[in-house]
Amino acid sequence: MNAILETTNLTKTYQSGASELTVLDAVNISIPPGSTAAIIGPSGSGKTTLLGLCAGLDRASSGIVRLDGMDITDLDEGQRAKLRRESIGFIFQDFQLMPNLTAIENVVIPAELQGKKGSETSARAAQLLKRVGLGSRMKHYPKQLSGGEQQRVAIARAFIHEPKILFADEPTGNLDEESSKLIEEMLFEINKELDTTLVIVTHDNELAKKTQHIIQLKGGKLISG
Ligand SMILES: Nc1ncnc2c1ncn2[C@@H]1O[C@H](COP(=O)(O)OP(=O)(O)OP(=O)(O)O)[C@@H](O)[C@H]1O
Ligand SMILES: [Mg+2]
Repeated sequence: MNAILETTNLTKTYQSGASELTVLDAVNISIPPGSTAAIIGPSGSGKTTLLGLCAGLDRASSGIVRLDGMDITDLDEGQRAKLRRESIGFIFQDFQLMPNLTAIENVVIPAELQGKKGSETSARAAQLLKRVGLGSRMKHYPKQLSGGEQQRVAIARAFIHEPKILFADEPTGNLDEESSKLIEEMLFEINKELDTTLVIVTHDNELAKKTQHIIQLKGGKLISG
């Protein structure tokens, strides 16, 4: 099966007092390499949960995630970290920038984790920050940046190590229309340039329509996709 990402009966449950809460219920998705996909659905439908499981950030209660031909379900934390470092980019819904590092220092983190340091990495980080419109904010700390600017730093950071697959949780959720368009264009451009598979959680139907696969969740169940 030619899929970079595939889930089989992926299920996540949480214990809530005496009862069990199923937030993802036997979800099957399959995404070809180099393609673009959107995960849509109401708040609380399990979008972030699905993304986290697919990116190896979290463990499923049952079911399988295959990423780039590898079953990641039973990897231990060290193996997951290696996979994330080498093949995955992630843009979090709440950015998760390091508060004590500047914008450019935040952007170089994934490259540094791969052992890439020095002027070439810094130059690429600077180039990415310029590309997201933050050329004059490189030395700012996260708290000196607006929400949308922090989002854009997180986007630049997700691309620095040229991941095979990029997961983005509402990457334009905090941006004005103009910045949203810029970021969308950049995501799709890089998808083409680097052949990076893009999986985007979004509430924006117009953005979803621009992707090749729409995965629709409701109450933890796959409705379509
Ligand atoms: N650690 C947890 N313990 C218990 N329930 C959780 C936990 N994390 C998430 N949930 C529940 O799982 C459900 C799905 O959450 P998730 O964050 O995946 O939703 P979402 O579709 O991303 O929503 P949004 O659009 O608001 O970001 C929610 O009802 C949430 O309350
Ligand atoms: Mg979410």
